[in-house]
Amino acid sequence: MNTHTDQAKRILAANDRGGYTVPTDRLYPFQWNWDSAFVAMGFALYDIDRAYRELERLVEGQWADGMIPHIVFHAPSETYFPGPNVWRTNHTIPTSGITQPPVFAIALRKLHEAAGKGAEERILPLYEAALKWHRWWYSARDPEGTGLVALLHPWESGSDNSPAWDIALARVPTTTDTPVVRKDTGHVDADMRPRDEDYRRFIHLVDTYAACGWDPAKQWEKASFKVAEIQTTAILLKAGEDLEHLARLLGRTEDAIEIAALNDRSRRAMMAQWRPDLARFVSRDLISGDDVEAATQAGFIPLLSLDLDRQVAEALVSEMKVWSKDLKVAFPTTKPGIASWEPKRYWRGPAWAIINWLLIDGLKRNGYTDVAEELRQSTIAAIETEGFAEYFDPVTGQGCGGLGFSWTAAAYLWLER
Ligand code: DGY
Repeated sequence: MNTHTDQAKRILAANDRGGYTVPTDRLYPFQWNWDSAFVAMGFALYDIDRAYRELERLVEGQWADGMIPHIVFHAPSETYFPGPNVWRTNHTIPTSGITQPPVFAIALRKLHEAAGKGAEERILPLYEAALKWHRWWYSARDPEGTGLVALLHPWESGSDNSPAWDIALARVPTTTDTPVVRKDTGHVDADMRPRDEDYRRFIHLVDTYAACGWDPAKQWEKASFKVAEIQTTAILLKAGEDLEHLARLLGRTEDAIEIAALNDRSRRAMMAQWRPDLARFVSRDLISGDDVEAATQAGFIPLLSLDLDRQVAEALVSEMKVWSKDLKVAFPTTKPGIASWEPKRYWRGPAWAIINWLLIDGLKRNGYTDVAEELRQSTIAAIETEGFAEYFDPVTGQGCGGLGFSWTAAAYLWLER
């Protein structure tokens, strides 16, 4: 067996806390939503039972309204802030009160394909959970039916301190009712993490929504951060395609029709966010009404779920090549060289294996197999050289952030297979 494959499996085993996988020890000691979806796809390659278990444990935290929270606090830990006492969501299994990118249904289809015929019984409750969450996105986060779903907190994007939020987040006050007692900088170099000011704004938003009793309509009204986001919508559309596929397989024709209509709505809305002068797709700040023009990876993720016209795809892929030029590890989460680019600071420049995974799938979908292969090899080489780090400095290739990271292990297994 390839020793790296073996190591990746050992990392997933070491991060297992009883049917769910923590992203990494201490820094992230609970179950995270999109991390678990990627991890489940990794497990599906060699342990389908464990793969299903990962998703089953995640939906233990699903809310009655359909939301699947971004963190499920299955067991207490003192090594993370903000814990359940800050979120105050009052759920039997404590959870956070916001969500994360909906990779779940994408994973579910992969699990079903890996499990083969006869797996319908196990998939059904997970399919129902995915459909409920899908509906939640379109009702709670796109109440006006635009086709683009909005985030009310940067943590919902998974790209916490991306330059994409700089303008929108600057409007959020730095005052908090909750003392901000960071734990992350005790585990990882502070230069690789969001700044204190970011954290105060993150927690201000948590306080605001907790005061709304976590009611989606009240949160929508009170939100001082509201961005209709292109990366999340692109992932949601891919999830919608996979959910529609599963609905048809399971004989759920009415569901399939409903999902297909939502998919169409998002497809059209996303196309309207293409900006030829930037050669990227953009999000929209719903408070100012402006495009979010910050140059981040989000603008390329629509490759994953749109079949682009040749002219658009060529422009997008040429721009990706400009960003990747002379880097040791692609794909940077911020355009190299611009003022907001910080190659070691979390989502302000580093390359992330799971983002590459999404881009590789999108490049293949749109016929760019050579570019996809280059990115795949660059990702594998980064991991084999530096280990299963949370992310990589694209200039030096250095592994940064948390180590022994579950989704990097899952991405390695998936990309190397
Ligand atoms: C963190 O705590 O850094 C997480 O990304 C929030 O989900």
